Amino acid sequence: MTCTVLKPLQQQETSDETKMDRFDKLVETLKDILGPSSGITSDDVDVGDLMDAMEQYTSDDREWCPYAMADDSRGYTRNLVDEGNGKSNLKVVTVQLILVWSPGKGSPIHDHGNAHCVMKILRGTLTETRYDFPDGDRNKPMEIKSISHHKENAVAYMADELGVHRVSNEGSDFAVSLHLYTPPNVAKSGCHIFDLRSGKKSYVPKCGYYSRYGHLVKE
Ligand code: SIN
Repeated sequence: MTCTVLKPLQQQETSDETKMDRFDKLVETLKDILGPSSGITSDDVDVGDLMDAMEQYTSDDREWCPYAMADDSRGYTRNLVDEGNGKSNLKVVTVQLILVWSPGKGSPIHDHGNAHCVMKILRGTLTETRYDFPDGDRNKPMEIKSISHHKENAVAYMADELGVHRVSNEGSDFAVSLHLYTPPNVAKSGCHIFDLRSGKKSYVPKCGYYSRYGHLVKE
């Protein structure tokens, strides 16, 4: 698989197969932690356990690079790593994605479809700007609630209870993050994005993938 984030010289080092294990193990562990979650509500999820598992992983480019497809014509790419069934083996209870953030670009302000989002920074630094949900239909600029800079290996949590947010890469090289969504409501039903100047909400029915399991699909 081609790794488009790393420079050609660094890519040669990805041939060490044993190096692939730790990241793949993290993905499995996160799925196992969710266990037999219903996948219908987000109430039975222990977010602390998910964050601990992500914190224990120290990022190594060579392990996750096969999933990380960069495309600087886009703000960021969404690369599917896992659609987990937990232990129930019936319903998809979680989606794990690697996002590759182009320099100077970011996501629109969005909600999280009543799901948990846990994010680990795998490369670079990401800036997260949070806002309150807009106040009804009033047409007014959205107010910034907080700005955080998440450095490599940091873990962050977001959910609708905390407002809405956008994530951006203010650096001069690609940044990479692992995102876990549970339940996978956004993958199933889309999300809402918000206009900074008016607070106007628009529905986005599908947040497609740029690659699935290391294969380019450019949805
Ligand atoms: C983000 O949290 O900004 C990324 C949203 C996504 O999954 O596309």
